[in-house]
Amino acid sequence: METTLIILKPDAVQRGLMGRIITRFEDKGLQIVGAKVMQISQDLASKHYEDHKGKPFYEGLVNFMTGSPVLALAIRGCGAIAISRNMMGATFGSKADPGTIRGDFGVSNSFNLIHGSDSPEAATRELGLFFGAGEILDWDRSIEGWVYDLSSGTAE
Ligand code: RTP
Ligand code: MG
Repeated sequence: METTLIILKPDAVQRGLMGRIITRFEDKGLQIVGAKVMQISQDLASKHYEDHKGKPFYEGLVNFMTGSPVLALAIRGCGAIAISRNMMGATFGSKADPGTIRGDFGVSNSFNLIHGSDSPEAATRELGLFFGAGEILDWDRSIEGWVYDLSSGTAE
């Protein structure tokens, strides 16, 4: 099982798209194990986007991400990191395929609605930045045995 950090960015929150985007993850069979509406501080934004420091879009990105509340989600499932990235679509809304979140809900390249961790290492680091101890809950889903084939003892 993997857990990934998903952020519904300020444009998704302001445009009232939170419910429809969360529904896509639930419909897919992924489990929501953490959720927090929050305003990202300058300090948190600079830690989260430290790999992009110095790039031409960095300042605008930090201003965007800190300017209005976001919804941080911890989302769990087998292969949750890659599955979520595929569901998000290409970085730029203008290029993202129909059927993806960025492809279906936006046209902008900068305001691209959603962030998802891009590797297991990034997920661990980013979840630690956004969620404190006890804020990610290991809860048993009653539907687990119908979302996954558990007959072999591992989720398939
Ligand atoms: P994210 O980190 O938000 O999940 O997006 P990503 O992996 O698809 O894209 P990444 O390369 O990590 O870029 C982070 C965010 O920076 C903005 N960006 N703007 N104008 C540009 O050339 C440019 N490139 C990136 C986007 O908001 C992107 O999501
Ligand atoms: Mg990224």
